[in-house]
Amino acid sequence: MKFTPTFLDEIRARLPVSEVVGQRVRLKKRGREWCGLSPFTSEKTPSFWVNDQKGQFFDFSAGKNGDIFEFVMETQGLPFPEAVEQLAALAGLSMPVETPELAAAERRRATHLEALEFAADFFERALKGGAGAKARAYLAERGITLEAQKKFRIGYSPNERYALRDYLAGKGCDAEVMKEAGLLTHGEDIAVPYDFFRDRLMFPICDRGGKVIAFGGRALSKDVQPKYKNSAETPLFHKGSNLYNLHVARKAAHERGTVIAVEGYVDVIALSMVGIDHAVAGLGTALTPDQCELLWKMAEEPILCFDGDRAGRKAAFRAVETALPLIGPGKSLRFALLPEGQDPDDLARAGGASALEAVLGAAKPMSEMIFAHEAEAQTLDTPERRAAFERRLRDCAGQIRDEVLRRHYLDDFRDRQYKLFGRARRESYNSGREPYSARREQFVPRGRQGYGAGSGQPRGPVAASAALLQSGLFSLPKEAPAPRETLILALLVNHPNLIVRHAEDVARLEFTGASGEKMRDALLGLAEPEMTAETLREKLGSRGFSDIFDGIAANATLSTLWCVRPDAHENDADEVLRQALALHHKQRALNRELRQAEAALARELASAGEPSEASFAALADIKAQLSALEGAEATIEGFGASSGREDRNV
Ligand code: UTP
Ligand code: MN
Repeated sequence: MKFTPTFLDEIRARLPVSEVVGQRVRLKKRGREWCGLSPFTSEKTPSFWVNDQKGQFFDFSAGKNGDIFEFVMETQGLPFPEAVEQLAALAGLSMPVETPELAAAERRRATHLEALEFAADFFERALKGGAGAKARAYLAERGITLEAQKKFRIGYSPNERYALRDYLAGKGCDAEVMKEAGLLTHGEDIAVPYDFFRDRLMFPICDRGGKVIAFGGRALSKDVQPKYKNSAETPLFHKGSNLYNLHVARKAAHERGTVIAVEGYVDVIALSMVGIDHAVAGLGTALTPDQCELLWKMAEEPILCFDGDRAGRKAAFRAVETALPLIGPGKSLRFALLPEGQDPDDLARAGGASALEAVLGAAKPMSEMIFAHEAEAQTLDTPERRAAFERRLRDCAGQIRDEVLRRHYLDDFRDRQYKLFGRARRESYNSGREPYSARREQFVPRGRQGYGAGSGQPRGPVAASAALLQSGLFSLPKEAPAPRETLILALLVNHPNLIVRHAEDVARLEFTGASGEKMRDALLGLAEPEMTAETLREKLGSRGFSDIFDGIAANATLSTLWCVRPDAHENDADEVLRQALALHHKQRALNRELRQAEAALARELASAGEPSEASFAALADIKAQLSALEGAEATIEGFGASSGREDRNV
């Protein structure tokens, strides 16, 4: 039997390649891809890669690549129909029975697509013709270049009742097809169906393969309502499971390692004009679960960029609510908040790509969005209000189905609450309880790990406000990376292979400053097996990372360290990197424990009036481990307390 493209696409859409391959090959995450031992050869070092975004596997030892169907055929020696059958079952789809209806539906699909393509062409020509003058002026005024008009196939629907209908009839299209494709307004009380879009700027909406499946039409003046008119749902067009510009963004997102979702079509176009092609928009509805899944096929953490107005903030939180039950490890969203009153189109025109990159680079993780949103909902100046706040946060976390992630959200919320309330509480403890503050001195480390003065924490009763969102209150202080972090970055920058080899560990790295985090993400996105340090450096440069890079290169402590230099032997660099990573993760974990232990102490103090000896002992133990770790740091060759090894050469 012949399978329809629709059916095969449906299977592909439901089954990530990693899931199908994962049943036969042990896969490990490597940056955006998965890696394992080739199932076709008996290799010892993994050269078999799976890329879910591309929907393909690549076997460099056997020289094969293909999609899920090819994988099943090749590994199980099955003919195509049986591979389809097996994968359909895995995807939870029943096999289509070849009926005359089905065959007719497939033929209708083809003729619909044809009609829509003719229509797109008709609108494009109309824009260029005499009737299109007003629309052309409008586009010019909005600064939408001819190049962008061509790329997005922008058109104009003439202000006539039967212009498109007659044109399509001349091309041999059936009126029924035009109706079903959403191009004609029809109904029982309408004697003669007429053009659905009239006197509007036309934005074709394409499926993931780039075929026109619908249109959005924008009014040319303020007094025409609605501002945007979109094609109704048709057999080809489901608003909730498509995205504007998906066919272009898919490819660009893969190259960039991220994808951006904005609110409007014009925003997508404005981004494209400043070189940002990995952007999509919804189709006049709030973000749906299906659309979230589409975004996750392109990137692990799509950035949602909402307008900087009330509606935009509301939409952002609706998106949070939609996404919460669906997120999991390596599957979340980030939120870029625009300045008040601006949309991405305004920002792109005012500040170009750099303004946008700045906003996108500062995108906030989902946990922070939820925390800020809930903190904003009410002043938090009484225990009751704080309790209600905590309850809301727990309810939010409760929505997360993935158990491990849920636990981490609860931890994260607890940490953030402690940071938000910690100082206010401690100040009142300190004024009332001299002995505690004296003892506290012994146990709480100073500096970043503690909650000492000058750390930018809020004072007094907490009344969170709209300004909170923009204040950066919840982000870590922006500092230069700490010495060990710089060491790790320098090792990675000079030995790109190590990024690939330790991708998982690198992805988990937390840095104290935003620049370190950005650099980490850039390195993960850019590094490829066998890439030279020069190539990586060039790519970093073209992504605007030269400053951070130069900062690392110029680091005085590191310049004396032989293992960091690009000409050091990779194995030596690898050894140092392993030690540094292990120490770093350990220290981060201990710092987290330390915060929890401190929080426990504070709670005991609040409830029993006196912290327990056990809590003190726990705190002391963590502190001892932390200082032991500082000692271990010194054992990294040439780093930490011991002197450098300038004499050694490779
Ligand atoms: P906005 O009202 O934010 O418009 O709608 P915009 O994208 O900034 O449009 P311009 O810049 O004024 O041209 C955002 C999106 O919401 C949908 C459309 O998909 C639009 O792109 N929308 C808006 C509708 O579907 N219908 C409407 O009446 C308005
Ligand atoms: Mn706009």
